[in-house]
Amino acid sequence: MTDTTGRRTLAPEELRSHRWYGGEGVRGFSHRARSRQLGLNPEEHLGKPVIAVLNTWSGINPCHMHLRERAEQVTRGIWQAGGYPVEFPVATLSETYQKPTPMLYRNLLALETEELLRSYPVDGAVLMGGCDKTTPALLMGAASADLPAVFVPAGPMLRGHWRGRTLGSGTDMWKYWDDYRAGRIGDCELGELEGGLARSPGHCMTMGTASTMTSAAEALGVTMPGAASIPAVDSAHHRMAAAAGMRSVALVWEDLRLSRILTRNAYLDAAATVLALGGSTNALIHLIAMAGRSGVTLTLDDFDLLARRIPVLANVRPGGAHLMEDFYYAGGLPALLEQLRPQLHTERPTVAGTTFGEQIAGSPVHDKDVIRSPQDPVSEEGGLAVLRGNLAPDGAVIKHISAEPRLLRHTGPAVVFDSYQDLQRRIDDPALDITADSVLVLRGAGPKGGPGMPEYGMLPIPKRLLAQGVQDMVRISDARMSGTSYGACVLHIAPESHVGGPLALVRDGDPITLDVPARRLHLEVGEQELARRRAEWRAPEPRFERGYGALYEEHITQADTGCDFAFLSRPGRNPEPYTG
Ligand code: FES
Ligand code: MG
Repeated sequence: MTDTTGRRTLAPEELRSHRWYGGEGVRGFSHRARSRQLGLNPEEHLGKPVIAVLNTWSGINPCHMHLRERAEQVTRGIWQAGGYPVEFPVATLSETYQKPTPMLYRNLLALETEELLRSYPVDGAVLMGGCDKTTPALLMGAASADLPAVFVPAGPMLRGHWRGRTLGSGTDMWKYWDDYRAGRIGDCELGELEGGLARSPGHCMTMGTASTMTSAAEALGVTMPGAASIPAVDSAHHRMAAAAGMRSVALVWEDLRLSRILTRNAYLDAAATVLALGGSTNALIHLIAMAGRSGVTLTLDDFDLLARRIPVLANVRPGGAHLMEDFYYAGGLPALLEQLRPQLHTERPTVAGTTFGEQIAGSPVHDKDVIRSPQDPVSEEGGLAVLRGNLAPDGAVIKHISAEPRLLRHTGPAVVFDSYQDLQRRIDDPALDITADSVLVLRGAGPKGGPGMPEYGMLPIPKRLLAQGVQDMVRISDARMSGTSYGACVLHIAPESHVGGPLALVRDGDPITLDVPARRLHLEVGEQELARRRAEWRAPEPRFERGYGALYEEHITQADTGCDFAFLSRPGRNPEPYTG
């Protein structure tokens, strides 16, 4: 069949779901009988694309509390376009509540997404998520399933307010908690802050991992144009959801699968977007993992190369001054991408049916302080740097735009903590031998050691130093850091200490050199001494003997390759299910 523009489109009998509903044997009869049980007349759904609406709504996830209602707008769009929407509740990954960290479960949601799409009569999908790990998880699974799919970002929450100041979720949580620890504010102020920090549905409204990843999804071309910047409660968000539902049906007829959209150029543009946003360091891990699912090689070095030529244009916290709501009013992501156009691959297709370039063409900037031009950037260089050295042979990452510049070239003695619990126990101990020049080291917090690489990477500054006015120190770890955190924090050290990475060999007092301009992280200890320590090192016992943790521990890869499960990231045969 062809559409009005002469493009070939699928015939109803070519739909994947036809294998279930159109079968002439007893199975087809059974599938149709069960549709009647669902209360559907044949003309309502037979021969129509079945669109799975994968919804990460849950009563425990405040960032997605509006998604149950928003699914109604998605399904409205799907019905209107002549599709058949089917809602699938899928695992919710709440950054706030799920312990030890939702990163442990990103691959579980990815696996669930892929297998649901594979095992049911599904022709296309709408993916609903936004809180940190949900975006990469849904897209990783959908990329592996390789059906046509549209991502509906949950949208940022509204600005927070407190005593006339605007509050950023995450960023200000850390800031005011430090003020509380240092005695600058008391219980009364803290109580008020609890009520003002997160005041509407939606994900974090700073440029944390959530906004970074939904914006990356938009730059990849898998959302409706402009979708990622719309505040969760804005009526435009309802309209975007309905439009995504409508478009998902057309994508099925056009057979425009994710593999045609998620190309290396798309991933490079997503990486450039993350850098121009001054986005979360978590994006490196997620984009590398997502690219792996698309059969695309994306490396830490790709990010570092881009970071040297992509300026930071979004003046949004934690690297800048404003919040996502301001960013939306200033023109949102399309306006920023239009500023970045010469650096992007504009000819590639998107789910919207236009090229990426057409999607952003002419998008105006309404506030030149919030969305900067390359001539007047927040920072000339991208916000991230990839470091290597004898402490991080496979790489480490620092978001240096949020660090105090004096620390970007620094040598200091190590103060080592073997776990986060150890750190919590000793960090405020008056006997701890530490100065503002010390280098705080946390290990045992990587993909296996954490487990799940918890966001411990912004190690707290000792109370004593805080009271002296110290606001930043060099901190290094194999952990991740919340996208809303800040400071001279070297993260994602690979390989991690738990598997015997050099971080395991550091001892109190060892000098450590951080040199961001030279992209270097070095332990100033001789090779002989390191070899002696290495020979003494003993691998820890596996933490899990059963359950998902055991599966995780056995298959998780290191940060530089995306922390996917090896058996999910590799190419290979995975046949369509037999439906007869
Ligand atoms: Fe959900 Fe920050 S807690 S996005
Ligand atoms: Mg976060």
